[in-house]
Amino acid sequence: MIDYQPLYNTLLEAKADAWVKLLPQQLSSALDLSRHGNLEEWQTLVERLPELTTTHRLLDTDAVEIGHSVDLVEPGKIELEHQLKGLHPWRKGPYNLFGINIDTEWRSDWKWDRLKNHISPLNHRLVLDVGCGNGYHCWRMLGAGAKMVVGIDPLLLNVMQFQAVRKLHGEAPVYVLPLGIEDLPYGLKAFDTVFSMGVLYHRRSPIDHLLELRECLQPGGELILETLVIDGGLGEALMPEGRYAKMRNVWFLPSCETLVSWLKRCGFKDICLIDVTVTSVQEQRSTEWMQFHSLKDFLSAENPQLTSEGLPAPKRAIIIANNP
Ligand SMILES: C[S@@+](CC[C@H](N)C(=O)[O-])C[C@H]1O[C@@H](n2cnc3c(N)ncnc32)[C@H](O)[C@@H]1O
Repeated sequence: MIDYQPLYNTLLEAKADAWVKLLPQQLSSALDLSRHGNLEEWQTLVERLPELTTTHRLLDTDAVEIGHSVDLVEPGKIELEHQLKGLHPWRKGPYNLFGINIDTEWRSDWKWDRLKNHISPLNHRLVLDVGCGNGYHCWRMLGAGAKMVVGIDPLLLNVMQFQAVRKLHGEAPVYVLPLGIEDLPYGLKAFDTVFSMGVLYHRRSPIDHLLELRECLQPGGELILETLVIDGGLGEALMPEGRYAKMRNVWFLPSCETLVSWLKRCGFKDICLIDVTVTSVQEQRSTEWMQFHSLKDFLSAENPQLTSEGLPAPKRAIIIANNP
């Protein structure tokens, strides 16, 4: 069981009283067993994970590393690997847990490497990671010195994967809550840094998403935004008519110039494009820990610069902006 009191205390210090009032009820209804047919199984799995103690925790390396291989003798290691595989598919990582190398679908460390030297140092900052997946980047943010990291993600399997990793790590000022951005009260103005990575294109109303992100930030706080973009000029954006790279819920892919203008219109300042990268089949691929189709299956077989729908293949931009 996670003790949320330190989270509530820190949020109260940050004057996020409005959210603290709602949170206990939000957590219990989001984790109600009727919400998902597999939730009880996942929760049991996390509860049955061994109580391991280790002081070996590396949060500033490519793979989030907890415990040494030698800390766990056979058959415990085989059993732990089996338990963790019960939470398949593992999309974001990598992790190395007591010598078990969780080779996830994504090399999420590559995204972190692209941005880590550009953001304001996270030391002593209260950080929100919107759409954090299983919390891989939350651990990296903690490893970069954040005072506390709050991740939110509505997908319960992600939350359960996080809880599994956290149980092996032990108590830490990092939380992944089973919530969407729409569950946060408007006007919180509580966080020093807000990350939104891989979320904007899933939002039907991207401008509202940017405004919601701004409302989470303290004055002077920093937004790190990562999203799919297209080549093109000011005012251009792609709205797929159907699926995009086989994903159903993709709404808007702006050009970088359009994205910068959206941020300006939403009141952000010091907007800086720090990276544009075409996603490679080395960065996103099927593995033993994510055995479903992955990027190579979503691209056109004839022309890998196009998706299977004939749209421009995934290209992602990272932008840093300030909330004045
Ligand atoms: C493409 S993943 C990105 C994960 C991680 N941020 C990264 O960059 O690797 C998008 C995540 O956003 C989450 N998501 C979808 N709708 C959301 C919402 N309304 N609020 C917060 N997160 C959401 C999904 O569950 C998913 O885990």
